[in-house]
Amino acid sequence: MILQDKKILIAVTGGIAAYKINLLVRRLVTEGAEVQVIMTPAASAFVSALTLSTLSKKPVYSDFYSENGTWNSHVDLALWADLMLIAPCTANTLAKMMHGQCDNLVIATYLSAKCPVFIAPAMDLDMYAHPSTRQNLEMAQDFGHLIIPAETGELASGLVGEGRMAEPESILQSITDYLNIFNDLESFSGKTVLVTAGPTYEAIDPVRFIGNHSSGKMGFSIAEAAAARGAQVILISGPTSLQVRHERIKLVRVTSAREMYEQVFKFYDHVDIAIASAAVADYAPATVAAQKIKKSDEHLTIELVKNPDILGEMGLRKKSQFLVGFALETENEEENARGKLQRKNLDMIVLNSLSDEGAGFGKDTNLVKFITADAVYEFGLKSKKAVAADILEFIQKETLK
Ligand code: CTP
Repeated sequence: MILQDKKILIAVTGGIAAYKINLLVRRLVTEGAEVQVIMTPAASAFVSALTLSTLSKKPVYSDFYSENGTWNSHVDLALWADLMLIAPCTANTLAKMMHGQCDNLVIATYLSAKCPVFIAPAMDLDMYAHPSTRQNLEMAQDFGHLIIPAETGELASGLVGEGRMAEPESILQSITDYLNIFNDLESFSGKTVLVTAGPTYEAIDPVRFIGNHSSGKMGFSIAEAAAARGAQVILISGPTSLQVRHERIKLVRVTSAREMYEQVFKFYDHVDIAIASAAVADYAPATVAAQKIKKSDEHLTIELVKNPDILGEMGLRKKSQFLVGFALETENEEENARGKLQRKNLDMIVLNSLSDEGAGFGKDTNLVKFITADAVYEFGLKSKKAVAADILEFIQKETLK
């Protein structure tokens, strides 16, 4: 119930999509939000103030003064709001907002607002595609506003194209997604999270190595999700082209399992949470040839020796850390994963499924189960970013117990 008691100010402007706002107001009120509607004079031609005030249980304002002479303070309205939504936002209102052309209550209120501003544009396709509209939308983004893009479909003009206001359900979704992220923002503040990511490359000679197809996407998504929630993150990654931009992520790039091991244990004792998502090579060549190996005989044998089990060692040295591992199994999936959970002294293991086409190495999606000593949690196919969010939410709940 993220919308409970949230104060949402909706500014309706003069477009045919205004009729959809009735539904949005009703949905927001049902979710527990307090909704205040204001309108431009043109909006009243498309939707009735009486309907909106009945649904929102508040008077609807469209003028600076009411008939009885009371002043409708745009400043009070703007400062009351936790969030302002302009929907539908016409090309005209958008242009006025971007240039401070303050000739009605909606623009005056917008100019006074300090809260997050959402804009749901709605106009005919050519107007929406026009460079001036594009520029105004870009400017709105630069101002830090959130644009809920128009959708493609049949337009009031009879034309078909991009310009329809997003449906009330997707506007509601954008708002709740935003509030959820905002809500989570500080949930890991003060915590330090160690993440291993990517493959490891085990050198055979100066030009060859034994590696695997891990892209590092899962580990990088976890690091970003933890940093976005306020954690300090140490991300130790094998070779990958991925980049990170977050100021709270310290990225340490390594090549081999041995190097990863050494970096991990520089930090491990001081972290609160450790998540091992790297696909670490279990074996490395016993010796690395100093020169490129020339082809000669029909067969070449490379002797391999076992790499250190980084996660296993983390389990052995565990004090108060919450320790998460990953497992990829081809048979007896749950049983093997549970065995690993116990053997490596983990608090939770993420079991990757190999049996789904959209999941796994190099893909953007993953199909996982979370396994703990006493429970199994199943999830559907999701983006790796969404899986990362699930992992952090799970850790947050478990560590707060
Ligand atoms: N892992 C690690 N160091 C290694 C090998 C694995 O930290 N040398 C971590 C991975 O990051 C992952 C988990 O251990 O979190 C995966 O373990 P896996 O390699 O499947 O486990 P093993 O115990 O080596 O079992 P298997 O017999 O399946 O290889």
